[in-house]
Formats: sequence, structure tokens, C-alpha cells
Amino acid sequence: MDFNTLLFEVKDKVGLVTINRPEKLNALNNETLTELHSLFSSIKNNNDIYVVIITGAGEKSFVAGADISELNKCNKDTGKEFAKKGQDVFDLIEHLGKPVIAAVNGFALGGGCELALSCHIRLASENAKFGQPEVNLGIIPGYGGTQRLARLVNTGRATEIILTGDLFSSDVAEKIGLVNHVFPLEELMEKSFEIADKIASKGQQAIKYVLQSIVSINNLTQENGLELESDLFGKCCGTEDFFEGTSAFLEKRKPKFNNK
Ligand code: COA
Repeated sequence: MDFNTLLFEVKDKVGLVTINRPEKLNALNNETLTELHSLFSSIKNNNDIYVVIITGAGEKSFVAGADISELNKCNKDTGKEFAKKGQDVFDLIEHLGKPVIAAVNGFALGGGCELALSCHIRLASENAKFGQPEVNLGIIPGYGGTQRLARLVNTGRATEIILTGDLFSSDVAEKIGLVNHVFPLEELMEKSFEIADKIASKGQQAIKYVLQSIVSINNLTQENGLELESDLFGKCCGTEDFFEGTSAFLEKRKPKFNNK
């Protein structure tokens, strides 16, 4: 697949998506969102890709937000569509059924922070800067920031971040639980691949069900979530991976999963 604003490659079972508009700090314009939707739809259906890493081109920015030159043309009616388009892409990522790791290598502002929030694991470089600066533009976050940030950190923190529009460092992002780990920039991709490869080495049926269960915490009560968890646990027990994983343990050997 050829894209104007994205780069894509697959290394073993890991897909690497790079947003490639470094001259605009990888800001998400309409074309980038369309291409992301098309790429992630094809990744979803590609059985050879187990894990995805997403990052930004260059050494300065992951994604510096929605493209303000396009945003500037919105009105009351088209503004809602503008927000919906980004929300659809980020929903697709969150519900991909495969782990997506955000390798945040610089600015993750506005839609960039929201893109990272829609991923399942967030890693950052020491130079990364986070923020939801939309209020400086007279708008609110529209690609899921008011929802996902408040759920991931806590409501008080998220409210302050969004109301002040302040940028904050990757160390602060780690402290508040927005990112899992911070690495020197030159190590970020290597560390991201290490985690991705480790996940790709597991039985992928279990990985899929872990994500399905964890992503559901946003929609389900704990009671219904536990019901879902036991359903999915039962499904796991019907897979070949389960038989292989438990047998390998008992036979004191490494499992060889076939992901069925
Ligand atoms: N939309 C469109 N273009 C953007 C952009 C965005 N969100 N963020 C950066 N750019 C463009 C700049 O306009 C500039 O383009 P130009 O060279 O054609 O003038 C280029 O990217 C480089 O940005 P610049 O501002 O010169 O870099 P900087 O290092 O001085 O500042 C930022 C970096 C991230 C602090 C600054 O670009 C910024 O505040 N961006 C907007 C962040 C934002 O509000 N995001 C939320 C949008 S909803």
C-alpha cells in the first residue's frame, strides 16, 4: 500500500506505522486521518501482523495535533464532522484487536496526545512533550481527550491539563501514568520493538482476549466486566494455544503456539 503521509513496514510480526509529515511536525490533516483509517483497517485483517508500533517521523515530534490550517476552516456544522473523523480512527485503533504501542518521540499535543491515548501501551523518549493545548485555540479536545485522558490518569489531573493547556515533560507523563516508560530518544524504537516482539511471541488468542476484556472497562460495570472475563477465559480454554501452553509447562519445555 502506498501512502502520501504515512510510512509502513512489517518486521517479523510487528507492523511499524510512521506518520510522515515532519515539516509540519506530523500534524494530522484530513489525508493523514483517511490514510490511517485505511492502513489500520488492513492491519486489522492481516493475520501476519500481531502487534503494531506507531511513531512520528523525525526527531522532534510524534504528532503536534490536528492540522490547524484545516481546523481553521471549520464552522459549527463541519466542526462536529472534523472531530468525528479523528474519533473514528482512534476508535479503530483502540478496538483493533491487536496491541498498538505508541512510541512517542517528541511533541504529543492535542490530537497527538489523543492518538497516544487510543493506543494500548505508551512509551516515550526523554525529549517528548505532552499536552492538550486546544483551549489556546478556543476549542476543546475533540479526538477523545476529555474521555480517555480522564479515564487513564484521573479526572482532576485531566481537567487541569485540559483547562490550562500546559505542556508537560515525559517524566511528568510517566509519574501520572500517561506513559509506561521513558527512554533516551536513541533507544526508544529498540525498546518498543523489544516489548512488541515479546508480546508477539505469546499465543495470540490470549492476547486478543486480554485486549477485548481490558478495553471493555470503559463500557461495562465491574459485574458485567467479570462476566465477560469469565466468558473469554472459557473461550481460551477451547483453543489449541491453551492446550499447548499448559502442556509445555507440564512437560518443562517452551510452548510453540500456533495462534489457534
Ligand atoms: N497544525 C498545522 N501545522 C502545524 C501544527 C499543527 N498542529 N503544529 C506545527 N505545525 C507547523 C507549523 O505551522 C510550522 O509550519 P511552517 O514551517 O510551514 O510555518 C511547522 O509545523 C513547524 O512548527 P513550529 O511552530 O515552527 O515549530 P516550533 O518548534 O517553534 O514549535 C510547537 C513547536 C509544537 C510548540 C508549535 O508548532 C505548536 O504549538 N503547534 C501547535 C500545537 C497545537 O496547538 N496542537 C493542537 C491542535 S488541535
